[in-house]
Amino acid sequence: MAELSRRRMLISGGALGAMGALAMASPAHAWTWSPQGSIAGAGAGADPRWVWDEEADQLLASLLDRGAIPEVNRLLWDWTRNDQPLPDGLPADLRDFMERARQLPSWADQGKLEVAAQFNKARGVYLNLCNGVGGGMLATAIPNEARAVYYSKGGADMEDRVAKTSIFGFAVGALNAYRPDGTCVVECVKTRLVHAAVRHLLQQSPHWGGDIPISQEDMLVTWHTLPTFAMRKMLEWQVPIRAAESAAYLHVWQVTAHLLGIRDEYIPATWDAANAQSDQILPRNMGPTREGVELTDILLSQLAEQTSPLSVSRPLCNALARYLVGDQVADWDGIRREPIWDPLIRSLWPRLVRFREGLVPLPLVPETAWIIDEAVRRYILFFLTKGQETKIEIPTANRPG
Ligand code: HEM
Repeated sequence: MAELSRRRMLISGGALGAMGALAMASPAHAWTWSPQGSIAGAGAGADPRWVWDEEADQLLASLLDRGAIPEVNRLLWDWTRNDQPLPDGLPADLRDFMERARQLPSWADQGKLEVAAQFNKARGVYLNLCNGVGGGMLATAIPNEARAVYYSKGGADMEDRVAKTSIFGFAVGALNAYRPDGTCVVECVKTRLVHAAVRHLLQQSPHWGGDIPISQEDMLVTWHTLPTFAMRKMLEWQVPIRAAESAAYLHVWQVTAHLLGIRDEYIPATWDAANAQSDQILPRNMGPTREGVELTDILLSQLAEQTSPLSVSRPLCNALARYLVGDQVADWDGIRREPIWDPLIRSLWPRLVRFREGLVPLPLVPETAWIIDEAVRRYILFFLTKGQETKIEIPTANRPG
């Protein structure tokens, strides 16, 4: 579809624009996922490619135009706890929005959130591996996301960016994620503001030729690379998961999606609905880009660098990444094939999982498997430390140059 006509449709107005876009979409790309499968249970069924985060987007555009963001960032630097009042001095429109945006949805279930927290702790290694390394490798194979990350401010300093994203990841996985002393609400609301700022800023980048970035569909795609991907991997590795844990893990991510500004009518209510939605939107949103290949290389160099004291080499990191995301995504990401490590990881990892789960005795787990296990821990620890030195901040510019 020609860029110009798409943009014009968007400008021509909400519902009409969305209907036009829907009519012009090819059948393979038609949005057929029913809002009945969502947490809201109902909805207009509008194609999420043409829906963003209207209120936040208008607000951030205005704050950026008013030059208010540096002061907002300064004020929000020490806003860290879920139960903490907002700092004095915020612009009234922002304060009003944030007071509403920080409320947990009426359907949030504290009991489930507690079960999820325990599950996140017990399954930390798998989740960190899937969300950290796996999620990173999937994100770079999503052209909309790879390009948005590359051309936004954080694209110039990926170590800082990964550290900031890790702050969010650790907040979701923390035992107190949604308790009063946790930080998840804060990080979600800050991230929602960052995304709204990016929507405004990227369109001013000479490198950005696409639609308004970070649509509801884009966010859903990324969301599926996190919980949906991790749950599928754990099931594939035969990690024992109780039904209550599975439901709770979905729930913590449903609440997180809501706080990030994903509309309830798009948030899957069940794993079946999530898998169906993921299967509909991931394939049409994934593929290779020059930017994605470059970002992948940076991420894997970081992994190799952080784990090199354990003699974990770049080829081993390549193999681990390929094992996690599969050949097609690995090829899109430009990850080299490793004739020695690829088959080794394929056979080692399932054995390590079986040992961890008490299903096989120690002699069956080779030394190398432990190195991988330790490498994941070190990598996480590195970003945990880095994350303590930085905070999520609203950008005021794109990537320089
Ligand atoms: C920023 C998480 C979806 C593009 C961030 C940050 C977090 C985050 C924690 C703040 C860290 C930072 O400023 O570097 C998430 C989550 C998502 C999601 C959990 C979905 C569930 C997306 C999507 C895109 C995107 C779909 C693009 C298509 C960006 C960009 C930044 C950002 C460009 C700002 C980088 C910068 O300028 O520094 N995101 N994100 N995000 N995100 Fe997302």
